Amino acid sequence: MADTLATWGGWEPAIRDDPFGHFAEARAQCPVQKVRLADGHPAWVVLGYDAARRALSDPRISKDMLAALQEAGDVVAEGLPGPAFSRHMLNVDPPDHTRLRRLVSRAFVPGRIAALEPAIRAIASSLLDELDAAGPGATVDLIEGYAYPLPFGVIGELLGIPAADRPRLHSWFGVLLTGWTGDPPAEAVEASDGIVAYLRGLVDAKRHSPADDLVSVLVAATEGDALTTQELLSSLFQLIVAGHDTTASLIGNGVVALLDHPGQLQALLADPGQLPAAIDELIRFTAPVPHATFRVTAEPVTIGGVQIPAHEQVLVCLGSANRDPGRFPAPDVLGIGRNDGPNLGFGHGIHYCLGAPLARLEAKVAFQTLLGRHPDLRLAADRDTLAWAHGDGLVLRGLLSLPVVLGPSRRQG
Ligand code: HEM
Repeated sequence: MADTLATWGGWEPAIRDDPFGHFAEARAQCPVQKVRLADGHPAWVVLGYDAARRALSDPRISKDMLAALQEAGDVVAEGLPGPAFSRHMLNVDPPDHTRLRRLVSRAFVPGRIAALEPAIRAIASSLLDELDAAGPGATVDLIEGYAYPLPFGVIGELLGIPAADRPRLHSWFGVLLTGWTGDPPAEAVEASDGIVAYLRGLVDAKRHSPADDLVSVLVAATEGDALTTQELLSSLFQLIVAGHDTTASLIGNGVVALLDHPGQLQALLADPGQLPAAIDELIRFTAPVPHATFRVTAEPVTIGGVQIPAHEQVLVCLGSANRDPGRFPAPDVLGIGRNDGPNLGFGHGIHYCLGAPLARLEAKVAFQTLLGRHPDLRLAADRDTLAWAHGDGLVLRGLLSLPVVLGPSRRQG
């Protein structure tokens, strides 16, 4: 019988770069529907706001993909860097999720996050100093020179990765997260091997000389049997991935959205106190994480009036839910002063983003530093040539490069 399922993901550039019209059409047809992923697997995509909130907090929808799919007799592609790195909080259910999240949470208590602010400011300023050195009329890449290295430096501080090692690690992650279809290319395998060997070495080093950082805290937990070595390595890997690409995409996407809406940019420059609310609106509007990570039904579940059978993959489309007109009036309008309450950009339920307070702080410092110094920055490329070429376009939506002219620096002092 012919397959009538719509394809989801792996879109042509026009949809990949601006998927919101496509999401809206699909959502209007049905807020929960069965689709076929670009890799050929069927899945259920959840598009409406209420349905998305329900799906993200329903304990019958599991995050333990490996266990659930194996139980269903499906063949599971391990991906890179493989099973030794896949046992982290985002891939497990309670009680393991509760234990792993509690251990890592120690690094995310409000005092620890606030204490990182001076380091974040120093990283942002020194990155802009480097870009400024090119001269006020020069074209610079804001992704490579600012949006990426900023959160990567911050996660490096938090974990205790020596500054000298970060560029190497950063370029490996860059290769791994760009994505591919089919078998991984040799450079991705090489990058993955490099990351695996590096993180193992880092753990050994912290075992011998602990410091005041998250890797040392987690290493100590393995000695007390609270954490296995597989869980430790997986958690480090997941924190680095979750902690930098997402925030980098928010900074890049946010700059483009503000340049697309000069009135909103001027309002923000006139009243920088609006920045915290503006950041949440930029997350809603630009969807740095357009879909939550994959889930699977452990038993039949009815969401939005649609029954999803057991052992089926579920993909919650945050980018669609956050533009559901039933939840956000005029959802396709960017409004930095919106007062509509929380959106789902950081997820919902027990897997709600652990790093949300850190991401908000990083974005606040990133925009304050950039716009404070360069309120006249402008795109240095045709808007239509910007490409959100990030893997299959499902879990990350970010630019690989963003050419801008910064203009004269208004640096104080
Ligand atoms: C703008 C930046 C960010 C966005 C939009 C974002 C978004 C998300 C989303 C949507 C989830 C839930 C995924 C799901 O349920 O499948 C999540 C989980 C997570 N995020 Fe973030 N994130 C950001 C930054 C960060 C940062 C900076 C860190 C850490 C340094 C971080 C660490 C985590 C962790 C550890 C989880 C897993 C939580 C759990 O499973 O309990 N994120 N994030």
